[in-house]
Amino acid sequence: MNALGAKIAITGCGSSIPPQVITNDDLSRLVDTSDEWIQTRTGIGRRHLASPDTSLSDISAQAAQEAITMAGLTPRDIDLIILATSTPDDLFGSAAKVQHLLGASNAVAFDLTAACSGFVFALITAAQFIRTGVYQRVVVIGADILSRWMDWSDRNTCVLFGDGAGAVVCQATLREDCLLGFDMYSDGKQHHSLNLSYKGQQKTLKEKVNISQGSYHPITMNGREVYRFAVVKVPEVIERALVRAGISSEEIDWLILHQANQRIIHAVAQRLDIPSEKVIANLEECGNTSAASIPIALDEAVRDGRIKMGDIIASSGFGAGLTWGAVIFRWGI
Ligand code: UT7
Repeated sequence: MNALGAKIAITGCGSSIPPQVITNDDLSRLVDTSDEWIQTRTGIGRRHLASPDTSLSDISAQAAQEAITMAGLTPRDIDLIILATSTPDDLFGSAAKVQHLLGASNAVAFDLTAACSGFVFALITAAQFIRTGVYQRVVVIGADILSRWMDWSDRNTCVLFGDGAGAVVCQATLREDCLLGFDMYSDGKQHHSLNLSYKGQQKTLKEKVNISQGSYHPITMNGREVYRFAVVKVPEVIERALVRAGISSEEIDWLILHQANQRIIHAVAQRLDIPSEKVIANLEECGNTSAASIPIALDEAVRDGRIKMGDIIASSGFGAGLTWGAVIFRWGI
């Protein structure tokens, strides 16, 4: 195998979804909302929430272990772990903790932050390490526990998000390159649309030396702006990734978008002329799990037999930053 030009196979997937559930009706007892509003505007029925004693590292390691097992590997075979998350247990990062929990003693691990685009960005990043021949077996995890960063009195956001983790294993292969095409973007001009931002107060350490002390504040989102951005940019980025892959949208077997809103998923599928039978969605059960939503939906569809070996999947993540990206890949060769 040529060091530059190694091919990529995506050989395993896994997920971890916390058992605690909160339904739309439950939420209607916390804020002024209704099951009818949430279902019709978003497609979300319930979401799973991490308990206080569950860490982001725990669910990430569980999802990764499932993916490693499906790939027929052990944690000691893994060279690199990329953890896409915006909600690490520790601001310095949680990937190394995940490495430790897995016992992946031969791997290097780091966090990557790109909000709801995180999994797609991390998968593309993993592919570069494999293509250059540096690493052969990489675990990519998308995980978030946004329930810890929600204003549970804000009906605009608290009805949307759930917690969870999903993972895939990417391996160097001598056979076909299964990462067929990708594209990714960011636009900081729209940064204000979706935030989980640090806010601090001035503290004076000595004359003319001031610092800020504070913490991160719950999520704020301009839903309409993000919605408008998503329905325009997501089909565009998928079309560009398809061009790079050299395939047409008819050749896509499955569309797995970031699970933000059923109406966004429907609009994007329509724009790309992808029939609803080819669209994978699990919003009803999980809500928006941020960086975890794509690998959780993938894992579910692989394990229930919908996605079969060799199927072509188009996937797109989008969200805070604003960031967005798409990846076209063949499952499991
Ligand atoms: O994962 C990151 C990416 N995130 C996204 O892609 C989210 C994109 N945005 C969306 O999915 C949608 O904009 C939302 C689901 C967030 C909101 O749906 P919408 O149809 O855009 O509603 P809206 O924000 O335009 O609000 C319509 C009305 C408002 O009332 P008025 O001003 O018309 O009286 C809201 O106050 O609905 C009200 N509203 C609610 N009512 C009941 C907002 N949230 C709720 C709620 N229950 N939970």
